[in-house]
Amino acid sequence: MSVLNDRKIVLGISGGIAAYKAAELVRLLGKAGADVHVVLSEGGARFVTPVTFQALSGNTVWTDLWDARMPNNMAHIDLGRDADAILVAPATADFIARLAHGRADDLLSTLCLARDVPLIVAPAMNRQMWESPPTRRNVDLIRADGVTVFGPAAGDQACGEVGMGRMLEAEELVELLEGYFVPKLLAGRRVVMTAGPTFEAIDPVRGITNISSGKMGYALARACAQAGAEVVLVSGPVSLPVPAGVCCVQAPSAREMRAAVFDALPGADVFIGVAAVADYRPVQTAEHKLKKSGDTLTLSLTPNPDILAEVAALEGAPFCVGFAAESRDLDAYAEGKRRSKRLPMLVGNLVRDGMGGDDNTVILYDDAGRHPLPRARKADVARGIVSHLAGLLAPRKG
Ligand code: C5P
Repeated sequence: MSVLNDRKIVLGISGGIAAYKAAELVRLLGKAGADVHVVLSEGGARFVTPVTFQALSGNTVWTDLWDARMPNNMAHIDLGRDADAILVAPATADFIARLAHGRADDLLSTLCLARDVPLIVAPAMNRQMWESPPTRRNVDLIRADGVTVFGPAAGDQACGEVGMGRMLEAEELVELLEGYFVPKLLAGRRVVMTAGPTFEAIDPVRGITNISSGKMGYALARACAQAGAEVVLVSGPVSLPVPAGVCCVQAPSAREMRAAVFDALPGADVFIGVAAVADYRPVQTAEHKLKKSGDTLTLSLTPNPDILAEVAALEGAPFCVGFAAESRDLDAYAEGKRRSKRLPMLVGNLVRDGMGGDDNTVILYDDAGRHPLPRARKADVARGIVSHLAGLLAPRKG
């Protein structure tokens, strides 16, 4: 279940073209279980009508400071009263300026001034407006006032220019908002981890790989980052977006993965091996494409380094977490791997329960025994793993 479930989010929409993205944002927030109440500025309502947001949120949409529908005529106070947060997306340069200076001349600005709940803004504007000295000053002012700023990103802009100022996509905003509410169980920790399959080249176009999708590893990287950790994700070849705030290093083969892990390891508190690392690689990689002939082709394979076992055996090793995907006898194989690699914690699952899909059923193994987690979306399983891991980590010194 998303951390946004049952949260009341007041979504303010000011007048920028990125307002069209707010429709998808309302849909995704609703899908995550949030109760979304939309407040449109006059400009926002010129881009997308209240009807759209009413249909998507299932709640009354508010636009007018003088709206008589609120029984006590206090929409500017009541709307934010029991909210978990106010998110303004898009937040235009003008809205940020008015926020910075405490203006209260429409419902949205008044609501923001009269609030006692967290305020988050997602700026959206043309590159020159974003870079202009007044906007820079205003963003600094609202940050100093405790407002959280999500984005903006660089990229194509509606005005035809390319640069900084594009509002984050709806999926990115939901991910950041979830992260905002996640308890910071790994604050100050450095986590290095692997994810995905590996690819062991046979020739320039062929290789040995496996069916790991990387979804569990990426979900765990996201959960660690949302829990406040600094995350370096060493990834095999997958087609997944890098989670917000995660530093991703591409490493297709086991040996490249090992090198990238050891590069990132200094200062790591935790190492998590989620990758399905190939146990073997071809003894030789052909420089040119192998040509077919009628003969049998024999590939000679040589063992790959076991990255996790090597890291766990280091003097002063970080807290190491292994993964084991088994096709049978999960308890015996998983606990056997944990002991042979000397790991304080291992996450086991049956291949049919997790590999490739969006859900997983896992059992956590540690010195105290086995701890099954309920079947859930990989994002939720990842949060369960993070909370167990945080409980096992030694309290930080100092
Ligand atoms: O392949 P195996 O089942 O032994 O994998 C168990 C754990 O060891 C996983 O966490 C995997 O990421 C890690 N591993 C590794 N390097 C290998 C093989 C496995 O880091 N060469």
